[in-house]
Amino acid sequence: MTPQELKSLVRTIPDFPIEGIQFRDITTLIGNGEGFAATVEWLADRVSASGAQAIAGMEARGFIFGAAVSAKLALPFLPVRKSGKLPCDTIGVDYALEYGSDRLEMDPASVTEGQLVAMVDDLLATGGTACATAELLRKAGARVEHAFFVIDLPDLGGATRLKDCDVAVEALMEFE
Ligand code: PRP
Ligand code: ADE
Repeated sequence: MTPQELKSLVRTIPDFPIEGIQFRDITTLIGNGEGFAATVEWLADRVSASGAQAIAGMEARGFIFGAAVSAKLALPFLPVRKSGKLPCDTIGVDYALEYGSDRLEMDPASVTEGQLVAMVDDLLATGGTACATAELLRKAGARVEHAFFVIDLPDLGGATRLKDCDVAVEALMEFE
């Protein structure tokens, strides 16, 4: 499948979750078996080329793609969770979203000192989630140099924000 065909599988829902947001919904992309496989294949190629030793995925949509890529490459998967979900001692960071704010947490013991960890998520908007995740992973001792997304919304400036925190970005497709 071409990137254009994959893009056509993403559904756009206006005014969700609040008025003015064009919600780019990957439900229809992952609901197409061939489309999901081709997307995971693209992400796996990029992660592999980055030399990453582990993949971090952000709850919840980052789990869908990150875990699939981890399994395909036989790399460890590090779940970065919303607050209060992990049963162990955690480290956490608060961050702002395109619509609201939240907190991310992880098990610091899941990272080894100096491990090169790539981030995988469905979508890059303001970059708040990915920057917070990079901060968290680095706090745990990881090296974070790359982030891979299915969708980038360039108008929201996420790639620039990530560049400022020394993370290189690649995305399979963009939406205005
Ligand atoms: C969405 C998306 C990214 C983030 C992108 O997650 O999956 O993680 O927003 O926005 P940002 O670049 O402005 O940070 P959301 O927090 O809505 O959670 P979900 O995956 O549980 O739906
Ligand atoms: N997360 C943040 N902004 C989003 C958007 N416009 N569509 C889907 N997920 C998002």
